[in-house]
Amino acid sequence: MQLQKKDKPITNILEDMTPEEQEIMMGRVQPFLTLMMQYRCAIREMETKLHVLNDEFSMRHERNPFESIESRIKQPDSILEKMRRKGYRLTVNNIEEKLNDVAGVRVICSFVEDIYYLANMLAAQDDLHVLEVKDYIKNPKDNGYRSLHLIIEIPIFLSSEKKNMKVEVQFRTIAMDFWASLDHKLKYKKNVKNPELIVAELKKCADTISGVDLRMQEIRNMMEEGEM
Ligand code: GTP
Ligand code: MG
Repeated sequence: MQLQKKDKPITNILEDMTPEEQEIMMGRVQPFLTLMMQYRCAIREMETKLHVLNDEFSMRHERNPFESIESRIKQPDSILEKMRRKGYRLTVNNIEEKLNDVAGVRVICSFVEDIYYLANMLAAQDDLHVLEVKDYIKNPKDNGYRSLHLIIEIPIFLSSEKKNMKVEVQFRTIAMDFWASLDHKLKYKKNVKNPELIVAELKKCADTISGVDLRMQEIRNMMEEGEM
């Protein structure tokens, strides 16, 4: 489902089509583009909520609970790949119903406690529904992967309706993010020598990182002791 040829906007492709072809194309593409627009709106709403929590927290504590936010919409080719892998028919309704991670927001924090602070504050907001929690910090994956994943339903307000959209929010520390980016590279590398050794080394690093995250947290807590 590659919607656009590289460097060729969809409008140009449409200009080359007969009216019948245009009708068929737009009938299929428009609902997909509309859904993607709605996911972009959901990401904006989620980012705003996180920034509000960040601003309020930093007024009180003179530091930010998160360092950065990265957001992304799943690309059409990844959507297609996942729908095929999971055995779902490729329809716009199925994309919305079956996939939880078309809209993704990644929140990078300095400290593990801040991850739970932000996640709990979001979960307590009465317009949001947490549909799923995967706590890979308390229960790391076998390879050492750590992060807190929430699937959250967030309302967007369109001209004639309110619509709940699913967003996957991943919370990690800077160190966990550093680890995950290296692990991610390994997945796309072909012909690596000694893959077992790399996997074992990565696992060791993940455990070391987790220990460092805890100690940094303890140091910060000691520094903040006695502060109001
Ligand atoms: P998916 O079909 O892969 O989305 O499975 P799932 O829905 O069970 O996803 P899960 O919540 O376990 O993970 C979703 C996302 O977390 C992935 O798309 C990655 O961004 C990230 N993730 C999960 N496991 C790993 C891992 O082992 N390494 C890295 N680098 N990222 C991971
Ligand atoms: Mg997922």
